[in-house]
Amino acid sequence: MIKQNIIFYFLLLISVEIYGKRLIVKRKTTKSAPVEAWTGKWFPGPPHPKDDWKGKWFPYPPYTNRQILNVHDNKPLTATEICDDGKQYIGIDFDPSDIRQSFEHLCLANRTLYTPNMKREALRMEYFIPPAYVPPVKCLNETITYDSMLPTYGAYRPIFPKYGSYIFMPPQRYLTALSQGAIVMLYHPCAYSGQVKLLQNTLRACMYRHIITPSQSLSPERPLALLAWGKSLEMSVVDDHLVVDFMKQNAKQGPNFSTKPPNGTKMYEAGLLQEAHLITDANDVEICGYKEGM
Ligand SMILES: *[C@@H]1O[C@H](CO)[C@@H](O)[C@H](O)[C@H]1NC(C)=O
Ligand SMILES: *[C@@H]1O[C@H](CO)[C@@H](O)[C@H](O)[C@H]1NC(C)=O
Ligand SMILES: *[C@@H]1O[C@H](CO)[C@@H](O)[C@H](O)[C@H]1NC(C)=O
Ligand SMILES: *[C@@H]1O[C@H](CO)[C@@H](O)[C@H](O)[C@H]1NC(C)=O
Repeated sequence: MIKQNIIFYFLLLISVEIYGKRLIVKRKTTKSAPVEAWTGKWFPGPPHPKDDWKGKWFPYPPYTNRQILNVHDNKPLTATEICDDGKQYIGIDFDPSDIRQSFEHLCLANRTLYTPNMKREALRMEYFIPPAYVPPVKCLNETITYDSMLPTYGAYRPIFPKYGSYIFMPPQRYLTALSQGAIVMLYHPCAYSGQVKLLQNTLRACMYRHIITPSQSLSPERPLALLAWGKSLEMSVVDDHLVVDFMKQNAKQGPNFSTKPPNGTKMYEAGLLQEAHLITDANDVEICGYKEGM
């Protein structure tokens, strides 16, 4: 199954000059199935076999409020009954109260490997997603896996996450935000903190719809990244022009770009460190407005 998907892709490598800096742009698209011919629900293929996972350790043991689960005759609600409330059974993706999952946000490698390098060009990836593609929304009774190290499209969880910075947010959760047209910033836990702060401050000042989280999926060569639906920009050093361009071009492009969820909607906020502030309005009518005329 995995092999098929790899053959399915081919890479188009283009090197372009932007603001005198070299940027590598890679576009991934399908070789065998042109858009017009493609009628399936799944792109680029059916879910990974792991999606049909039937292991015995699920439902994941809850670590905290077990009492809340005991609604009827001491029998906890199952993940199927709950679907997703942003609190129970979240450990299938990530649970911040589970210390065994804390490796996700710790620097366990040699930091010097992640030193910023001014000479290293940024890498922009663009995935071709057929307009008819409908991303599956899955409850917590089903695992979600991705083919890519830095997933930018695919299945996600139903509950909207609160925008802001997190101890760690797994892809299954940040893809929900991407589908709403948010920009996600990833940084490797070993990345140079000065560069992390720089990128974080730019994103926070530019738009409300954003998620900031560490990620072990980034390479030592480019430990910083911005993601949008179907797009990514990986960097060694923050380049303000590239960053602002990426946000302006790719924010608000998700398949489920809509207004803020109505009052009283349950939201995901596990591991939220700092909630995002409104810059213009809840739909980010203007992105990086303060950069105009610079
Ligand atoms: C998971 O739960 C949802 C919602 O209750 C249900 O529709 C779906 O069939 C369940 N999936 C599995 C694999 O049990
Ligand atoms: C980290 O990597 C650098 C460069 O490769 C090396 O010089 C240094 O000894 C390493 N430090 C540790 C603690 O391994
Ligand atoms: C899009 O968001 C609405 C709520 O605003 C939700 O009902 C719907 O299921 C979402 N669709 C997808 C594909 O996520
Ligand atoms: C949502 O709640 C806020 C305060 O809690 C209130 O001011 C606002 O009018 C409410 N909006 C709707 C659509 O109910």
